[in-house]
Amino acid sequence: MRDINGDLRVFPGRASAKLTAEVCRFLDCEVGASRTTTFPDGEIMVKIDEDVRGRDVYVIASTCEPVNDNLMELLIYVDCLRRASAGRITLVIPYFGYARQDRKDEGRVPITAKLVANLITAAGTDRVLAIDLHAAQIQGFFDLPVDHLSATPVFVDYFKDLKRKGELKDLCLVSPDVGNVKVAESMANRLGGELAIINKKRLSGSAVETGNLIGSVENRTVLMFDDIISTAGTVTEAAKLLKENGAKEIIAAATHPVLVGPAVERLSRPEISRVVVCNTIPLPERVNPLKPKLVELSVGPLLGQAIHRIHHNESVSELFRNTAGPKR
Ligand code: R5P
Repeated sequence: MRDINGDLRVFPGRASAKLTAEVCRFLDCEVGASRTTTFPDGEIMVKIDEDVRGRDVYVIASTCEPVNDNLMELLIYVDCLRRASAGRITLVIPYFGYARQDRKDEGRVPITAKLVANLITAAGTDRVLAIDLHAAQIQGFFDLPVDHLSATPVFVDYFKDLKRKGELKDLCLVSPDVGNVKVAESMANRLGGELAIINKKRLSGSAVETGNLIGSVENRTVLMFDDIISTAGTVTEAAKLLKENGAKEIIAAATHPVLVGPAVERLSRPEISRVVVCNTIPLPERVNPLKPKLVELSVGPLLGQAIHRIHHNESVSELFRNTAGPKR
């Protein structure tokens, strides 16, 4: 019988081809050979072009825009691998879309995060590896092992380097909403800064209203942390409030650059001096005007290490021993 740890194969979803290539370079393996085609009517077909029988297979696929196509592609990938007799299928989902509908906060609404978890399970997935899920409890929506990574080590390395260069003086970490306080707090501990919190109220998909600021940001360099920047309503409204309260400089950081609708125009405004994001979602051309103040950090090595550990049945939480772990 073939040893499940013997052979590792890593395949790319179309939205994550560049990131997959980076992960494969880290793992020193070839990107798995496959072809994904879209038929004229919009149906998707995946064809695996190499033997995967009994192998330990990873598919790296963010369910970012176009969300429904990327989600369907990922499900079809799993079905294809299952029928090709893969030994174990791990879905690596750097950005898990549909995560923000994670509870019934009013009557007659769906819980799409649970629905997507059900679809992924039903397709035949064996385990899931994700980064900064919008809410930690989404792990429990899967009746499968889920390894939940945090991008904080990637951010900590980048910001520590800036500190070494003499930037980020008088630092204050700000959580632009109460949901992200723990992450901002652990970043404040890691980077050595104060903590402040903003109380946010969402008015619609793209409009938010900021309430109170808890803590002082006067003459501070503010580092704002969120999991997602989507329409950028949250961070730009927060930035206005921080400026009114005397912040010297404002940097916005988020793991997942969804960046849709008015995001580019909003983030181009002068209140925010720098936007730091990860490559869990590929940056589309429409964000080019933001490039002068946009920094893209790579989660490739982090995913590579996690895959290496899963493949060799080693602890994944060890990766976070000396840094802020994922949201709990
Ligand atoms: C919400 O709870 C999330 O953590 C983000 O704050 C939100 O998704 C950002 O959305 P937007 O950029 O559209 O304000």
